[in-house]
Amino acid sequence: MGVLKKRIAVLSGDGIGPEVCNEAIKVLEAVAERFGHQFTFDAQLMGACAIDATGKPLPEETLDACFDADAILLGAIGDPKYDNDPSAKVRPEQGLLRLRKSLGLYANIRPVTAYDVLVEHSPLKNDRIKGADMMFFRELTGGIYFGDKGRTADGAYDHCTYSRDEIARIAHLAFQAAGNRRNKLTLVDKANVLETSRLWREVVQEIAPTYPDVAVDYLFVDNAAMQLILNPKQFDVILTENMFGDILSDEASVIAGSLGLLPSASVGDRVALFEPIHGSYPQAKGRNIANPIATILSAAMMLEHFGLQDEAGLVKEAVLNALDKKILTPDLNAATMAYTTDQVGSFIAYYVLEGATETLPHRSNIELGLSTII
Ligand code: IPM
Ligand code: MG
Repeated sequence: MGVLKKRIAVLSGDGIGPEVCNEAIKVLEAVAERFGHQFTFDAQLMGACAIDATGKPLPEETLDACFDADAILLGAIGDPKYDNDPSAKVRPEQGLLRLRKSLGLYANIRPVTAYDVLVEHSPLKNDRIKGADMMFFRELTGGIYFGDKGRTADGAYDHCTYSRDEIARIAHLAFQAAGNRRNKLTLVDKANVLETSRLWREVVQEIAPTYPDVAVDYLFVDNAAMQLILNPKQFDVILTENMFGDILSDEASVIAGSLGLLPSASVGDRVALFEPIHGSYPQAKGRNIANPIATILSAAMMLEHFGLQDEAGLVKEAVLNALDKKILTPDLNAATMAYTTDQVGSFIAYYVLEGATETLPHRSNIELGLSTII
């Protein structure tokens, strides 16, 4: 592919968001340099930092910049000062939810892989998780997150609604993905209780014959939560509604060894958004200890979305190389052996630029080798 010019809106957000975004940008710059592409980065405010600066979690200027961009890179949002105050009227999460809705990002794609070199890091038994490789398709703009919510005289309610179209459009994406993987799709719902879940089953059953190569099965969400830990290798593509997908994808991160490894892509009809699945990890803010790999792998998903398969493949190879050589942050490495956020990012960017190094570079050389791009 020839030279590509892409404009990327960067919403680094709160907590560790800015630190992990910096590393993903470093890697994207290495890709641009190596392959002769041009990426420009447009930093914008969203989340608690936007509330502090403008009073709004998603300022209009940010939304406009997102509409103008070719893709969006998001770090993380959220701050304990809002989490601990149930009466707060303005919250960082409202920014993210409104952004997803405004951009029509109805499908959140979360791949979960148990990397061989990290299986010991999972608290789960190695033989159960080795080789596990699944992909969540979480519906992202409907369901209980977006239904009417409010208070009554002595209670509160959150309505869950889904339309046939909302289910069908993500179901098609999930079936297509399954067709390109191991041809298995599991719909997770609670159809023994919820009417919306019965509609999900109905719509998926109607669509299934269009994809005759894909085997479909159905699991209730409570059972799915157990099966994920008991036998994660049974899963290929998991399709589910908004809230179940939120919960189960965090659970599934235990299989990968760290929440700090899992990327995601949110796609819809317009610009797509790429973000790690982890939160803002406020305790680690500014300490240079957060794992940047989830955000770097989210950038790789962005490259795939741009049609840059070789570039994305190289970034993933660079990440595997870092895992292999144990260039890892403290979530995955003993404290004495651990590398910092920017050392891990630089090591990965260095590989993207130069390929494998014969010997493990000295920590200071990791930085030195990158002097061309930072
Ligand atoms: C996620 C997060 C968000 C969600 C929060 C921050 C609103 O947990 O992306 O999984 O629940 O969707
Ligand atoms: Mg979540």
